[in-house]
Amino acid sequence: MKLTLIGTGYVGLVTGACFAEVGHHVVCVDNDEAKIKLLQAGGLPIYEPGLAELVKKNTAAGRLSFTANTAEGVQKSDVIFIAVPTPPLPDGSVDLSFIERVARDTATAMTDYKIIVDKSTVPVKTGEKVAETIKRYCASRVDFDVVSNPEFLREGFAVSDLMKPDRIVIGTRSPRPVAVMKEIYAPFNAPMVVTDINSAELIKHASNSFLALKISYINALAAICENTGANVQEVAAGMGLDERIGRRFLNAGLGFGGSCFPKDLSAFIKIAEQVGYDFRLLKEVQRINTEQMDRFIKKIIDTLWVLKGKRIGVLGLAFKQNTDDVRMSPAIELCQRLQKEGAILRVHDPKAMDKARAILNDATWVDTLDDVAEGCDALVVATEWDEFKNLDLDRARKLLTHPIMFDGRNLFDRVEMERRGWIYKSVGR
Ligand code: UDX
Repeated sequence: MKLTLIGTGYVGLVTGACFAEVGHHVVCVDNDEAKIKLLQAGGLPIYEPGLAELVKKNTAAGRLSFTANTAEGVQKSDVIFIAVPTPPLPDGSVDLSFIERVARDTATAMTDYKIIVDKSTVPVKTGEKVAETIKRYCASRVDFDVVSNPEFLREGFAVSDLMKPDRIVIGTRSPRPVAVMKEIYAPFNAPMVVTDINSAELIKHASNSFLALKISYINALAAICENTGANVQEVAAGMGLDERIGRRFLNAGLGFGGSCFPKDLSAFIKIAEQVGYDFRLLKEVQRINTEQMDRFIKKIIDTLWVLKGKRIGVLGLAFKQNTDDVRMSPAIELCQRLQKEGAILRVHDPKAMDKARAILNDATWVDTLDDVAEGCDALVVATEWDEFKNLDLDRARKLLTHPIMFDGRNLFDRVEMERRGWIYKSVGR
């Protein structure tokens, strides 16, 4: 099938590449000409495991192309996916101006029936507004359908999440586009939920908020574990074996960050407020998340006492492993708060150093994991990169003035660390 994706961020680019991989002909559109030039030249604006190979292979096969011209993208396909950013406004609500702009541009360029599919995360009832807008701006008065088809990919695992999705949600007001949507997704062999457009939009916010709730729940339990001598990982393992609960997203740590959970939670609280419901449960999820970072900083201060002038090595800057994304990264927040206390930082991340440089000042940027500890008073693990587990602990011990580690992601074995003579503080253990 011929498909167009408008917006080549995480969602648009990875979805476009995966659609091409299963045999569709895909045009990816972005109004950022520099980004399109980069993609046309074989470069990638983001790091995402497996993406470079897919883009290269499908571009060479003629199934994937890039353009900065929206009208061209709209005219080339029957199905137009909107995958543009929906950033937060200062009051927590969602800025829908990019969506509105694309709806107008698409309407202007349409000359025959199109299915317009919203993939961006949007408040419930946005689909209705998109339909109204297209109707208003479509001079050729052709038929169209609007579908909500939220995306559930996780950064760092985007390609595998897309190729093997848990479910495909198709929300629509009329039955006409359903067969086409099913055909597009048939190669992915996933269960499909066909529903009304408002429910589809709600599924996305409801899912992300629930996952954030799960993380705050385990972080609250971590606090109780620390006060009782229990181990949060054992608790999570015991809970997770109950199929109704599940072990995933029960990792205690520094709290959740990134470009989705914090934004989607605020948006969902705002949406609920606008429709007359005070979603206090989700406000508590936010509060626990903030407190989680406060408790970790306190742990560092309680151990190191005065931070002014102390050298601290920080492992991890990305908001989680397998990504170079530092937006709303708990690791960056931690660094900035340590700096505010007067600490001097040596930092390392396997992928996120370039992006972190733009938002973190006055740190020493260390290229190799094993050199971070040099001359430091303590090490902090801030991102759950698997490769940090390969840290040469004996070398780190020698490089530190005293072997102290604050593990904000519970990467190391507590008993083993203590046996090796470390002062080792983790989360909920
Ligand atoms: C999330 C959703 O998972 C995805 O379905 C949606 O489409 C977009 O938002 P993403 O933001 O890429 O994906 O990251 P995710 O893997 O969900 O992690 C979010 C944050 O939660 C990270 O900061 C991570 O470190 C943290 N986290 C995750 C935990 O602290 N504990 C966990 O158990 C899981």
